[in-house]
Amino acid sequence: MHMSLVRSIWKWYRSYHVHRRPMPLIAHLVLTNICNYRCTFCYVNAEEQRYTMPLEQFKPLIRDLHALGAYYLYISGGEPLLVKNIEDYIVWAKQHIPYVHIVTNGSLLDQNMAKLLSRCKVNEISLSLDALEATHNLHRGSDKAFSNLLRAIENLKAHAPRIAATCTTILGPWNIGEQEELHRLCASLDVRQRYQGFQEYPSVLERQSGATLLTKEFLEELQAFLATLPARDRDRYMSLQVQYYAHRLGMGELKHPIFSDPCLLPYYYVNILGSGEVCPCYGVKSDMYPGTGFLAPPKKFSLRESSLQEIFNDPAYARMAHALKPCTECKNYFASCYIRPRLVFPAGNYLRYHLS
Ligand SMILES: C[S@@+](CC[C@H](N)C(=O)[O-])C[C@H]1O[C@@H](n2cnc3c(N)ncnc32)[C@H](O)[C@@H]1O
Ligand code: SF4
Ligand code: SF4
Repeated sequence: MHMSLVRSIWKWYRSYHVHRRPMPLIAHLVLTNICNYRCTFCYVNAEEQRYTMPLEQFKPLIRDLHALGAYYLYISGGEPLLVKNIEDYIVWAKQHIPYVHIVTNGSLLDQNMAKLLSRCKVNEISLSLDALEATHNLHRGSDKAFSNLLRAIENLKAHAPRIAATCTTILGPWNIGEQEELHRLCASLDVRQRYQGFQEYPSVLERQSGATLLTKEFLEELQAFLATLPARDRDRYMSLQVQYYAHRLGMGELKHPIFSDPCLLPYYYVNILGSGEVCPCYGVKSDMYPGTGFLAPPKKFSLRESSLQEIFNDPAYARMAHALKPCTECKNYFASCYIRPRLVFPAGNYLRYHLS
């Protein structure tokens, strides 16, 4: 295990067990909500007020994350590579945070970007690829989405071969029938896939005029597809996602303890929006996933008013993390960005959830 990870984890255990204070081991930054696509399933609301975190706010934020002991930074959006001077952001992030992971729709990942990502040693790039060409393009709203994504993979392979490139694939009713072929395609390109279940957040449901896309047929197709995957691509998170869908369809119970155990994620995970808003996850009502939330934040935590260090040292933030322990909002929305870390951290979770 990397020494900086050991140091960050040690610092977290001390912060939690000795001081009962949250520490952002993992940070998820929605750098901008602006995007060049309009995907049918996306939870980011393109109509809301647009924001992008300016570089002058980003730099002290990253310095603070470093000082607070962050190990992992996940940069998302909107489309992060659309941000003006994104190179300056990436270089700065990698100078301070040991593990930097960027997720992109691939449309702007040209040779120069691949070379830059390689030069500054970004650790991981996720390219969102959901279906075969016609379906991918239809749902991403661009007739070049698929070819752009394949070109992005080629650019990474040619100019950034040391970066772990993965395809992030949402599994939804509109693309489940194509997954076996897509899996073969990714294997032929020598790219691993990371699956995530389609989430019907309130903003997504609103776009679907309130009608759910989750059906028994979809669940059956999903189960049949997961059974075709080789063992190395099977995933505990996806098997729990199946349990979650079955529950939503009234076909089963949420038996796994992750659905009912006290939740510690707010003690080690932070969401930061390009607008400056800081919140742990969708357990708190926020602009990130409008309409979700177990509790209202005790006050506004924003980088417009305080630095990240001030926010994490604020007793109100620690009280909020404590108040989220009984939260079970993950029963309503089961997002991979929270469930994957919860499955492995803290160590007690790893043992308990992998033996269940
Ligand atoms: C919001 S996007 C931002 C990054 C970039 N624009 C992209 O598409 O990769 C981050 C990830 O969320 C996924 N996503 C969007 N809407 C989703 C939903 N309703 N349920 C699950 N994942 C979703 C996207 O496919 C993408 O992999
Ligand atoms: S490309 Fe990403 S952020 Fe943009 S609409 Fe699609 S999923 Fe949402
Ligand atoms: S149960 Fe889910 S939504 Fe609630 S605090 Fe934990 S991670 Fe956040």
